[in-house]
Amino acid sequence: MLYDSILARSFSKHEQKKMGYGALMGCLFIAFSFSIMLKPHLGRHFLALNLRLFPRASGIKMADIITKKPTPACNWMDWTDFCDIDMNVRIHGESSSVMFASTDMEEHLERNSTWKIKPYARKQDANAMKNTREWSVKAAKSPQKLPQCTQNHSVPAILFSLGGYAGNHFHDFTDVIIPLFITARKFNGEVQFLITDSKSWWVLKYQAILSKLSNYDIIYIDKEAQVLCFPHVIVGLKRDPKELSIDSNNHSFSMKDFKEFLRSSYSLNRGRAMENRGRGRGRKKWEIKPRLLIVARRKTRSFTNTGEIIKMAKKLGFQVIVTEPDANLKKVAETVNSCDVMMGVHGAGLTNIVFLPERSVFIQIVPFGGAEWVSTRFFGEPSKDMELKYLGYDISLKESTLIQQYPKEHVVLRDPVAIQKQGWSAFKSIYFDNQNVKLDINRFRPTLLKALELLHHSS
Ligand SMILES: *[C@@H]1O[C@H](CO)[C@@H](O)[C@H](O)[C@H]1NC(C)=O
Ligand SMILES: *[C@@H]1O[C@H](CO)[C@@H](O)[C@H](O)[C@H]1NC(C)=O
Ligand SMILES: *[C@@H]1O[C@H](CO)[C@@H](O)[C@H](O)[C@H]1NC(C)=O
Repeated sequence: MLYDSILARSFSKHEQKKMGYGALMGCLFIAFSFSIMLKPHLGRHFLALNLRLFPRASGIKMADIITKKPTPACNWMDWTDFCDIDMNVRIHGESSSVMFASTDMEEHLERNSTWKIKPYARKQDANAMKNTREWSVKAAKSPQKLPQCTQNHSVPAILFSLGGYAGNHFHDFTDVIIPLFITARKFNGEVQFLITDSKSWWVLKYQAILSKLSNYDIIYIDKEAQVLCFPHVIVGLKRDPKELSIDSNNHSFSMKDFKEFLRSSYSLNRGRAMENRGRGRGRKKWEIKPRLLIVARRKTRSFTNTGEIIKMAKKLGFQVIVTEPDANLKKVAETVNSCDVMMGVHGAGLTNIVFLPERSVFIQIVPFGGAEWVSTRFFGEPSKDMELKYLGYDISLKESTLIQQYPKEHVVLRDPVAIQKQGWSAFKSIYFDNQNVKLDINRFRPTLLKALELLHHSS
């Protein structure tokens, strides 16, 4: 699993440097925190850099080896696979087959060529890919060798999966919706979506987004017995390696455009923090109270002193809204978009920063246990590309409810590294699934003050 491999990499570095326990414990923990925070990032940056230096090298090479000619353009990136077949394509859902023929290829093909592809954009994560249906892309030498079309379509199609981790709010956006936006945008609605591993509630939840990207009713392709024909098919989704992001170097659009797209999908009216607030209209900017959204969680990583936080925030001049995001995405989008500052403990609910107006402030509360790396990578860094101002707040041990669950000398409190070494699920079950947060109001106040300052500087 992705998280395990990141952890493992950090451990091995850590192990090399480790000099023993005892008096050095504190120092080691700090060293670990740094290594886990920095190493994965260096790793990712290196990867990204590498790929920028050798653009699509792996994709073209692979295709070359198999077909001696890069047709169809099957691209095997390190983080996603997709095939872009710009010629008559026939799809048979029941047998998970995508077929095409090109006389053009006759001389290059000694035999039929087949590519295997799982159309979910988190390739390196074995667990995600286990839940994703595999499709075959087959090239035949002549159209006579292909099954007859029983249903003709005149627009291009995109085939993608709702397997993997779809259903988790963060993964919905980073693995499906943003990649779908990247892949589908150029068709301007004139594209047919073919969904494999479908979940009907998922489609319902993201209806507003899906119908903005495609003018056609979705086809659930898995049980389709017909042979569907299209002039052009993309199997799988394009994505960029960074989470929740669009690399504007690689596309003619950016996260700014994605956010604009979301605003138009949900008719959100605030493009920028501190403006356009309905009731605030006609008043001078500095007279409008900034709105603070506290993202609540019920089961774990919840705030245990929300009342105190609200009181303090109000004293500082905020209008405060507390909400726990649910599946009513339109309502969530409207609430988030109406705010200028959003704060919450690390978790999938923070994905809703995509709805914040630009120049808003995003405060991520990082739980105890060395979760900085995942917090920064999943939300902190991406938020900057969304033109948000990011403040990370790492809680102290005293602010964690773990101190009530374990004796002072317990390894969980003393040495999160040791727990992390047991892997992601051990780490998660303690630090993510069984930890709540009691914010130290005095320690946290400067962060809220900083948020105010950032708001006023930007307006
Ligand atoms: C190529 O594929 C077609 C259709 O799937 C099949 O009828 C044919 O026998 C295959 N040819 C070879 C050489 O595998
Ligand atoms: C689809 O189009 C092809 C080529 O134009 C034609 O031969 C075939 O009869 C059509 N099939 C259907 C079901 O309309
Ligand atoms: C990113 O963009 C560069 C320059 O526009 C391009 O050459 C490269 O192929 C792209 N890389 C990926 C991974 O798409």
